[in-house]
Amino acid sequence: MPVMQLLRGAVKHAGSGPRCSVQRVISAARGVSSSSRHFGRTHPQSCADTDHPKVLITGGLGQLGVGLAKLLRRRFGKNNVILSDIRKPPNHVYHNGPFIFSDILDSKNLREIVVNNNISWLVHYSAVLSAVGENNVALAKEVNITGLHNILDIAAEHGLRLFVPSTIGAFGPSSPRDPAPELCVQRPRTIYGVSKVHAELMGEYYHHRYGLDFRCLRYPGIISADSQPGGGTTDYAVQMFHAAVKTGCFECNLRSDTRLPMMYIDDCLRATLEFLEAPAESLLSRTYNINATSFTPHDLVRELQKALPGLKITYNVDPVLQAIADGWPMALEDGAAQRDWGWKHEYDLSELVRTMLTHISTGNQLAQAY
Ligand SMILES: NC(=O)c1ccc[n+]([C@@H]2O[C@H](COP(=O)([O-])OP(=O)(O)OC[C@H]3O[C@@H](n4cnc5c(N)ncnc54)[C@H](O)[C@@H]3O)[C@@H](O)[C@H]2O)c1
Repeated sequence: MPVMQLLRGAVKHAGSGPRCSVQRVISAARGVSSSSRHFGRTHPQSCADTDHPKVLITGGLGQLGVGLAKLLRRRFGKNNVILSDIRKPPNHVYHNGPFIFSDILDSKNLREIVVNNNISWLVHYSAVLSAVGENNVALAKEVNITGLHNILDIAAEHGLRLFVPSTIGAFGPSSPRDPAPELCVQRPRTIYGVSKVHAELMGEYYHHRYGLDFRCLRYPGIISADSQPGGGTTDYAVQMFHAAVKTGCFECNLRSDTRLPMMYIDDCLRATLEFLEAPAESLLSRTYNINATSFTPHDLVRELQKALPGLKITYNVDPVLQAIADGWPMALEDGAAQRDWGWKHEYDLSELVRTMLTHISTGNQLAQAY
């Protein structure tokens, strides 16, 4: 029997859960020839086949998803990028392009969405972040590990290009910290970090074993003006910007000398698009660090005070968050991303602060000052 017919039959009869279906497809492929074992490579809807991929973003209503959808829609067309989440979208999101409900723990529904919408790229943003995860380990395990398994299986079954972000939280106290290299000891001590190392390893395993086009970037803490962070350890920075403009004072929950890698959202989203578009043959790795700037709360306060000299900061250190931050790198080594797909950040600390203040205070006197 021809290979494609066997594979299609295996996918068609895969009704009892993602793991079963993946195993059936694998068995079918194995029975034919060792060179066609990678079902991702044999699927007719490979994203390389089309000029405009059809993209699904999971967890799209968090800090990063709406901005990424905007960027991808500009590039690939409004209707080719579907945002999804388990929450109700605000009106401006609902009216600006396709949005659907999708719970990544419901693999049947997820599979239907992928098939019915002819999805070719999947950006998997759903996650429970570091601070929230430490407060609800069971939820973090379910969303970040069980949910990821559903995503991997569906992406492999349907030959999707799969992007899963990792994080500085995937490193731990025994990793080199300044900078953290691409390849080193990774023994994180948060459930978030453990689940992200798991995602990196599972994605790379599926890539080598089944040919899944898995792509992963380790994001620094992301700074954005018009979307709120979802409960991570670097959230203080975004909160400090808003407080600085609105009230002129802020209580910081990390020590003033806590240096962490940070990135402005435009750099993060551009990196994601450029990495997603990079030709597969240029990627010598499937998981890359990306770096931009690194700063402490003290550095940020000093830079903010250049524009807002009256800004008052107090410190009330949260021991749980501080312990998390103390185990994370201060900077990321990103030479491999520069070499393989041309990554280069644009925003250093002063440019980031200038841009954030301009966005947050648009319309008031501060904006005029820039
Ligand atoms: N924001 C950062 O600073 C940062 C840094 C490093 C990595 N990342 C990673 O980038 C991705 C996006 O981050 P973010 O800041 O937008 O996260 P966020 O916490 O702001 O948003 C996550 C979204 O996932 C959704 N979600 C939760 N459970 C779900 C489920 N069962 N099914 C579907 N959706 C579900 C939530 O409703 C939420 O909208 C995450 O994977 C995160 O780990 C973010």
